[in-house]
Amino acid sequence: MLGSLLLAASRNALARRVVSGLPPTRRVVDRFVAGESASDAVATVERLAASGLTVTIDHLGEEIRDAEAAALTAKAYVTVLDALAPLGLGRRAEVSVKLSAVGQALDETMALEHARRICAAAQDCGTTVTLDMEDHTTVDSTLSILRALRADFPDTGVAIQAYLFRSEEDCRDLAGSRVRLVKGAYREPASVAHQSKTDVDRAYVRCLRILMAGTGYPMVGTHDDRLIAITEMLADRYGRGQDSYEYQMLYGIRTDKQEALAGAGATVRVYVPYGDDWYGYFMRRLAERPANVAFFLRSLRGK
Ligand code: FDA
Repeated sequence: MLGSLLLAASRNALARRVVSGLPPTRRVVDRFVAGESASDAVATVERLAASGLTVTIDHLGEEIRDAEAAALTAKAYVTVLDALAPLGLGRRAEVSVKLSAVGQALDETMALEHARRICAAAQDCGTTVTLDMEDHTTVDSTLSILRALRADFPDTGVAIQAYLFRSEEDCRDLAGSRVRLVKGAYREPASVAHQSKTDVDRAYVRCLRILMAGTGYPMVGTHDDRLIAITEMLADRYGRGQDSYEYQMLYGIRTDKQEALAGAGATVRVYVPYGDDWYGYFMRRLAERPANVAFFLRSLRGK
């Protein structure tokens, strides 16, 4: 219930103004967001790389309203990739892109061209791009842009949301690719998505099995211990070495687990968001866990 309210608020303009205007919010946001500038993001990559972690960088922003904002997002990605290249950090960091931030809702061809530019900059930096997945109305468009990108940049990856009924089929289609499997973070209707946690977790396992049995590179995007244990079991069953799949977790969430897995030889990639448009991302993190709301409220009371 609270989660649904927060997800509704994540797309509400008035709630955005109120929450963004609360002075202590920034302190709480800092737990989940690496900073505002490209240099903040690069410094975070350096710090995480020193602890044996890899990174995917997300320039915050989604659902942009005009072509100028879409071009600025693409430019921001090129800037951060250009900053990583001379430091040799292309081996440690890739980027994650929300197509809505490069104009998907305005003009799909424009979004494809911006995404192509980002993929080219990533290739020059020696790294890759993964497309985030947004609400269910964008999935067909995102997968069609992915197919177009993969013609030139075959390592381009995509996130698939286990809560959608269609995702097992999508996993089968993509079983030879880089796929980040996540539970799904948007409020979706019962006509397209599982609603209960148990059903979502079961669907996750079904998708995971397809990906781990396939020939691609599964990216297991979860903080859930049970799913991590099942991944290890499936890796054994399908004879996958630790370099043939990876775990992905969000910046600021279960840092101890990230380090423990990396210490045990797993590849662990931390999703590092940066930028000033943090509202939607932040609200989805609150929605995932009531304890985060308590933490947020305590900070508003100055404790
Ligand atoms: P679950 O929510 O069951 O959490 C398991 C445990 O993890 C919790 O008990 C708690 O300990 C910890 N935890 C989880 N979320 C937390 C939080 N916010 N704060 C503190 N602790 C928390 N979604 C999407 O729709 N499109 C996308 O492209 C992506 N991309 C993406 C990338 C990466 C790297 C990750 C890890 C996740 C995403 N997501 C996403 C978000 C995803 O869909 C999902 O909402 C979250 O990962 C939470 O689900 P878990 O699998 O962690 O399980």
